[in-house]
Amino acid sequence: MSPRPYTDTQPMHVAIIMDGNGRWATQRAMPRVAGHRVGVEVVRKVVEHAPTLGITTLTLYAFSSDNWRRPATEVSTLMRLFRSRLVSEVPRLLDNNVRLTAIGRRDRLPLALADALGEAEEKTARGTTLHMRLAIDYSARDEILRAAQRLASVSEATREDFGRALGGEYDSRPAPDVDLVIRTGGERRLSDFLLWECAYAELYFTDVMWPEFGPKDLESAVEYFQKRDRRFGALSAAG
Ligand code: IPE
Ligand code: IPE
Ligand code: MG
Repeated sequence: MSPRPYTDTQPMHVAIIMDGNGRWATQRAMPRVAGHRVGVEVVRKVVEHAPTLGITTLTLYAFSSDNWRRPATEVSTLMRLFRSRLVSEVPRLLDNNVRLTAIGRRDRLPLALADALGEAEEKTARGTTLHMRLAIDYSARDEILRAAQRLASVSEATREDFGRALGGEYDSRPAPDVDLVIRTGGERRLSDFLLWECAYAELYFTDVMWPEFGPKDLESAVEYFQKRDRRFGALSAAG
């Protein structure tokens, strides 16, 4: 995995809504959780390919706070899957110089998963090639609310203060704004993901279901990004 030098046409921070596992499995007459199992395999491939495209921060939406509304058996299978993969993937993350952190609430997760997250964060803390952020029990609106509460006593808090407060108690180093959001599975919505950080993100939607997403699809998304004219409210450099 050799990272490419950064140019301003490459997205530094890519955030992915990994959607479509359940439908992918159902279409094949398999239980939904079979889709989740294949989905976690895809994560590894994407994490290993991302640095070759100049990506330095990759935020992956693994479980939203609203996903607790799913049947208990699907939820518990997901939690077990997250835990076992976290534990087994750490050596590979270390080999690839990846730093893993998690965003979202920790206090409602099974203890074994919360512990595994903490351990993975600790062991990979010195990774410099890629910062992989796993969003688990994550809700952007809850996170914004918590940041607002944290800053309630600060007079004239700036956007930077707010950005720092967002990462919250678990990661004091905030991630940069999102450059590119990718959503698989055909839906065109954000589902409460990184609402603050996506203020000027480019949005890429694909009908490819997450279990079938691969390095080539990541490249297509980056190519789409490279064709955009990011104006940030000003006029384009081309005039
Ligand atoms: C995304 O796939 C993974 C999680 C939300 C955990 P889904 O499980 O939402 O798959 P679909 O959208 O039902 O196909
Ligand atoms: C968003 O997908 C959450 C994750 C991919 C983890 P959902 O499948 O939960 O989103 P909705 O319900 O279709 O908006
Ligand atoms: Mg879905």
